[in-house]
Order: sequence, then structure tokens, then C-alpha cells
Amino acid sequence: MRGGKKIYEGFNAERKVKNRKIKERKRLGYEAFAKEFPRENNELPEQYTNKILRGNSEQLLQKLPDNCIDIVVTSPPYNFGLDYSGHVDTDTWHAYFDKLFEVFDECIRVVKHGGRIVVNVSPLFSDYIPTHHIISKFFIDKGLIWKGEILWEKNNYNCKYTAWGSWSSPASPYLKYTWEFLEVFCKGDLKKCGSKENNDISDDEFKSWVNAKWSIAPEHKMKQYRHPAMFPEQLVMRALKLFSFRGDVVLDPFNGAGTTTLVAHKFGRKYLGIDCSNEYCKTAEQRIAENLGT
Ligand SMILES: C[S@@+](CC[C@H](N)C(=O)[O-])C[C@H]1O[C@@H](n2cnc3c(N)ncnc32)[C@H](O)[C@@H]1O
Repeated sequence: MRGGKKIYEGFNAERKVKNRKIKERKRLGYEAFAKEFPRENNELPEQYTNKILRGNSEQLLQKLPDNCIDIVVTSPPYNFGLDYSGHVDTDTWHAYFDKLFEVFDECIRVVKHGGRIVVNVSPLFSDYIPTHHIISKFFIDKGLIWKGEILWEKNNYNCKYTAWGSWSSPASPYLKYTWEFLEVFCKGDLKKCGSKENNDISDDEFKSWVNAKWSIAPEHKMKQYRHPAMFPEQLVMRALKLFSFRGDVVLDPFNGAGTTTLVAHKFGRKYLGIDCSNEYCKTAEQRIAENLGT
């Protein structure tokens, strides 16, 4: 005890790694997995800038040049069996990942050197499929740098969990979750270039959001926008301010009711949103139109 405070004398010494730099060099860090990507970045053509496009992302993205998107922020369908308009949300897991990775392959190609890909994902716990790990492994195998993981705490304790697995027995208890994940990847470089005047994150926001557990309530307007799986504006806003600059180009290849494109528009980014449903694309356009001039 010192001055009424408990002091853990040995704590720092215990945690201190000796010759840290030498050991870091030996491990090679993320360079053990990261690949080289072409460094020359391109402009997103005018015809795709600030647009919502209806169609299959895997095909539409093929029309874009390499290295023309600063950041992808997206939430793919999770294969949970939800009722989407224009997308069937139940497939075998192999077929699901094959289709998803076709789109993600295109995302990797179109993202700039130094650009980022942020994927919001939740595993289907009842199928025991760790979707977030499988997706992370895909991007790491492709040579992207895994920047980190944000735990999105939804605090949705009210949702009706009736499954206990083996009630009051260790035979097969069913684990319950109130959170989802954001997996963040970088292409070619951990550092993203941008000018100081286009940095729009405040000191307080930065200090708070680098703590990688974000408590944000789920979107409550899904009924109003007739979409079964929207993420909240606050989640996208934090991701955009923390990982991109004003004026950057934002892509959402699974744009749904257009939360990403709306937030990109509100916070001075350019956007391209793609969804296979005509209805959702109309909603996405409408949300931006309602926000124009506000
Ligand atoms: C989880 S929702 C995204 C919701 C969105 N984040 C929002 O806040 O509204 C996934 C979306 O992907 C769309 N989708 C599924 N497969 C697609 C594909 N191959 N190309 C384009 N859109 C696709 C679905 O129609 C659905 O709206």
C-alpha cells in the first residue's frame, strides 16, 4: 500500500518483454502473411460516383478499375434464412462462402493500396459455423493485413432466447450472444494517406472508439425501411470516421436499405452502393434524397 492505494510492484516487471524489438523482428509481424499489391491508385469513374446500383456485386464490380475505392464498409447476408426481397438467405455453407468470396475477391481488387475493408458479421452460433473466423482467414490468405476486430455490443438481452441446449448440465450447453463483430483489413499498408483538413474525427471520438468494444443499439427502423437486417447509422459513422478521410470513396457491395451510402453522404464521403434488390436500392436512394440539403 502507498498513500492508501494498492501498488502491484512486480506487475510491470513481470509483463516486460526483454529485447522486444529483436523478438518482433524474428516473428516478422503481419509481414509473415501480407502480400504485395500494385501501388498505383485510380479514380473511381464519374458514372459510378455517388450512385446506388441494382445488380449482382460480383458482376458489377468487374466494371470498376483496380485500386479505386478507399474503404469498403459492409454487412453481407449471414445465411441465417432471413426474408430478403431478391436474395435467398439459405444455402449450403460451402455455396454461401463461395458466392461471398467472389464478391470479396472483387472488393480486394478495387480497393486502393492503403485502403480498408470493414466487414460486419455474426456467426450462426446455432449451426456452429464461425463465419467471422472463416471470413478473416479468407482475407488473410489473400494477403491483406488483419488490422483488428471491433466487438459491436448490441445489448439486445430482450431478444427471446429459448434454447438452452442441455439445461443445467455440461452435456451440451448453448452459448448466447448479444454482440456482433467488425473485422477490419488493410490492403498493402496499415497506414492510409489523407490530408489533415479531411480528418473529421475529434480527439474525444478517437479516444473512445479505439477501445474496440462499441456499445450501440441495433437499428430500430427496419420495419419502416422494410429491410430485415440493417445496421445502425452510428456503427457506420464510427467506422468511416476512424478508418477514412472526408472526400474518400466508400463502397458497400451489400448496400441493402443504404445505411452505408447515407452515412457516407452525410459525412462528406463519395459513395457507391450495390444491392441485388430493386426495392432496397429505391429505399437507399430515397434516404439520401431526404437528407439532401439538411
Ligand atoms: C445484411 S443486408 C445489408 C443491409 C445494410 N447494411 C443496411 O443497413 O441496410 C445484405 C444485403 O445484401 C444483398 N445481396 C445479397 N447478395 C448480393 C449480391 N450478390 N450482390 C448484391 N447484393 C446482394 C441483399 O439483398 C441484402 O439487402
